Amino acid sequence: MPRVYQPTDYVVEKSLLPSFEKYKEMHKQSLDDPEKFWSQIASEFDWQTPAQPGKFVSYNFDLNKGNIFVKWMEGAVTNICFNLLDRNVRNGHGEKIAYYWEGNHPDDYSRITYRKLMDLVCQFSNALKDNGVGKGDRVSLYMPMILETVVCMLACARIGAIHSVVFAGFSSDSLAERMASCKAKVLVTADGGWRGEKLLVLKNTCDEAMQKAQAKHNHKVDKCIVVSHLKRVTPCGKLPDDISSLYKWTEDRDVWWHDIMEGQSTFCPPEWMGAEEPLFMLYTSGSTGKPKGVLHTTAGYLLYAATTFRYVFDYRDKDVYWCTADVGWITGHTYVVYAPLANAATSVLFEGTPFYPDNDRYWAVVEKCKVSQFYTAPTAIRTLTKFGEEPVKRHDLKSLRVLGSVGEPINPEAWLWYYNLVGNGRCSIADTFWQTETGGHVITSLPGATPMKPGAAGFPFFGVEPTLLDESGALIEGPGEGYLVFSRPWPGIMRTLWGDHDRYEQVYFSKFPGYYCTGDGARRDEDGFLWVTGRIDDMLNVSGHLMSTSEVEGVLTEHPHVAEAAVVSKPHPIKGEALYCFVVLVDGVELDAALLDALRKLVRARIGAFGVPDTVQYAPGLPKTRSGKIMRRVLRKVAVGDRDVGDVSTLAEPAVVEQLFNNRP
Ligand code: WTA
Repeated sequence: MPRVYQPTDYVVEKSLLPSFEKYKEMHKQSLDDPEKFWSQIASEFDWQTPAQPGKFVSYNFDLNKGNIFVKWMEGAVTNICFNLLDRNVRNGHGEKIAYYWEGNHPDDYSRITYRKLMDLVCQFSNALKDNGVGKGDRVSLYMPMILETVVCMLACARIGAIHSVVFAGFSSDSLAERMASCKAKVLVTADGGWRGEKLLVLKNTCDEAMQKAQAKHNHKVDKCIVVSHLKRVTPCGKLPDDISSLYKWTEDRDVWWHDIMEGQSTFCPPEWMGAEEPLFMLYTSGSTGKPKGVLHTTAGYLLYAATTFRYVFDYRDKDVYWCTADVGWITGHTYVVYAPLANAATSVLFEGTPFYPDNDRYWAVVEKCKVSQFYTAPTAIRTLTKFGEEPVKRHDLKSLRVLGSVGEPINPEAWLWYYNLVGNGRCSIADTFWQTETGGHVITSLPGATPMKPGAAGFPFFGVEPTLLDESGALIEGPGEGYLVFSRPWPGIMRTLWGDHDRYEQVYFSKFPGYYCTGDGARRDEDGFLWVTGRIDDMLNVSGHLMSTSEVEGVLTEHPHVAEAAVVSKPHPIKGEALYCFVVLVDGVELDAALLDALRKLVRARIGAFGVPDTVQYAPGLPKTRSGKIMRRVLRKVAVGDRDVGDVSTLAEPAVVEQLFNNRP
């Protein structure tokens, strides 16, 4: 039986939501009367036209009854940028720090207040307009983690343009495809940036992408706005004396950020937007290869981002909050930009990596900025466990109160390391389950209110009604495991896929009529905790036993010599499927017969004889996407020795694939 951790007094004291009872009461209210619940929250924000009573939410989740749609606060009129900046400045937060920026090199840092941020956003809004961008136009971003990135997103929101941020690690092909798909008018980028000691010449990738967009997709980008970033930061590796020799410049198309900002007014009236008008799109990978442009709209997203942030991180006035996610992912959109600003919060914006200049960088920044909420991904935590306790112990982390986790199920070993070492046994961990499509957290623990079990996501957020279904679509009540679906919308759920509403209906609503299907599996335990077990396609069936790969991974990483594990299924003539495990070991350890034996015994002990892996392979590293997700598709190919691995261009380190093939036992 996993131990249950209760929030400590340190967290509960002064918590916005200090008890499980209070959570249950509010959750019930949010389902019983969504209009009352959300309109109370809406009243804190600014509306040109408020929502009409009785028309707060309408939706159809059932394809048999017609097209799928979700609408919140239809008819209301507002501007999200106005709510994040002007409203906060008006409420007395003008001199409050919005962001502490920490660069890749520790010598590079700055800070910006709400008022200054508002001024820059207005100026850049005017600059965008001068460059032909207006309401409804699409603007692509391919940016490092710098303040201009936030400024650009908010400027788009201010003038009603739709931003499409592409993570600045994607290839030029991916960027080209995404720009062409949304017909971006303008691309905003920087000349380059550093990741550790590696120089990324972003402008080059953009040049290639714009050329490919035209040649392959017949789409021309009108303008490319470039931030001059390399000159102002400390070089972390080799750099030519003449930075401009790194890339080309196309007159008429390419313009410098600082040139078009020159002389712009700090006054720019916001474009008033309908509640259901688009705010942004964000491409996420689909199982068929073609990326899906997930579309979020204005009012519902604002309400949901703001509310989840407030309760999930238990944010208080003087807190400093830090989400390490890149702005190129949904976590960066919602929890680096929109949600903290909606709460007038002070955040850290971090350009670097956890490993530069040393493996203690995260903890150094936590100490320096006195971070109270730290939000990162299990993959980062697991990688950091490899370096032991010393880099963590080098720093004073007593400012921390809430630790967040996002992106995949966190294995209990990593959870405990995070809890005991980083949190010193007194912080709450919020394991936040959500998706690009959900806009914000949907299943999570709440720091002062809900008990925690290492590895369990926890409980539904306000407005969220999770349901478990079996393969036939029958409801699983009480304890059990099945497909995780939602029977009704919360304000932050996606509204459509850009330009492809059919695909939206097919991908998310056709499998189980009446439900939004997450594509994830989940288990509800005897105490009502929800455990997200991973993508349905990560499930495997060994001799009739349904297992999730993450379950086995969790067991393998319990062993002190295993830093990371990834498990895939391999076809087996008798069992149907067999477990094929990849293990990344702690520095200095070898996968010898004794360790192999110990790992098999551990799985047998934890899961049962049927779960004992057929193969355990040593892995120097795992094939991960740049957002840190293990690409199990590639591992399945390694498992069966099939070198036809398909497209691996989204991998952070494609070279690892070859090493894995060479290491097959
Ligand atoms: C997985 C990231 C377990 C899940 C916000 C989901 C998680 C996918 C968790 C969405 C978590 C995310 N526990 N699994 N706390 N958080 N996932 O769109 O499989 O990049 O469907 O959004 O990540 O990934 P996405």
